[in-house]
Amino acid sequence: MTHVVHELGIDVRPLSGYTGAEVHGVDLSRDLDDQTVAEIRSALLRWKVVFFRGQSIGHAEQIAFAAKFGELTAAHPYEDTPPDGFPQILPIDSRRYEAKFGTRKVTYDNGWHTDVTALVNPPAGSILRADIVPPYGGDTAWTNLVAAYEGLPAPLQSLADQLRARHSFGGNRRLFAADSDYARRVAAEPLVAIHPVVRVHPESGERALFVSPSFTAGENEIIGFSSRQSRRLLELFYEEVSRPEYTVRFRWQPGDVAFWDNRATAHLGPSDLGHLDFDRVLYRVTLVGDIPVGVDGKQSELITGQPFLAN
Ligand SMILES: [Fe+2]
Repeated sequence: MTHVVHELGIDVRPLSGYTGAEVHGVDLSRDLDDQTVAEIRSALLRWKVVFFRGQSIGHAEQIAFAAKFGELTAAHPYEDTPPDGFPQILPIDSRRYEAKFGTRKVTYDNGWHTDVTALVNPPAGSILRADIVPPYGGDTAWTNLVAAYEGLPAPLQSLADQLRARHSFGGNRRLFAADSDYARRVAAEPLVAIHPVVRVHPESGERALFVSPSFTAGENEIIGFSSRQSRRLLELFYEEVSRPEYTVRFRWQPGDVAFWDNRATAHLGPSDLGHLDFDRVLYRVTLVGDIPVGVDGKQSELITGQPFLAN
């Protein structure tokens, strides 16, 4: 008698029409086989952010999971106090922020952004794990930058295809107090890159509208445009990027893990906890990214700083 063993694939449950899917049937504390890794990668490319509910993992398992999908960076270009023994882990910890940034906040950046696009090679992906979450509030939202691009009328697509924009770190004053050590560190080691406004995804070939308010936040960000023209056009793009139909909103529980394609999404940290006395602690790792390429085949340009390579 022969037994045919059917490997059960992962169970992908989309959460909205364009963006986000829960992945069930995977235990991230285990060493994942190649087939499972390939299926998760495929779900990520399709849905841009995937969620794993109720995992029981720590820093080491989070790093091991991430390493299945690429090389890890250090925690963050400006992070100087990662957890002992885990230089790849960036704590998103409301308990640390007042001392660190000179301002009380619950998340690193509560504006729409793609992680660290002031780098010439922004991370390819980010993996965020929830440890302590508030009883209500503190949700994160993601948006699909490919859907935002594809939803533009053709003449706007072809305009966007031709544009490049400056991304700089700390141009947005909301992130930290001007007189904090963090602000002095950013000023001493500025990060600036020029990226195509439309980025061609290196794996899927899809085009993504690659601007977000936290990094393209200065005055003359679209190259060759006046500050007035740049601001108006960016506002138009930001409005498209943040349209509700392209987004998904995720309610965190302890142990939940989100994995997003940082080449095709922007995300929005919470702003609804500042008046409440809740702690919120999550841990992020990022995967080394490639240098973006525009529709014309031209790569992004490093203005200041260094590429962010494997830790
Ligand atoms: Fe972020």
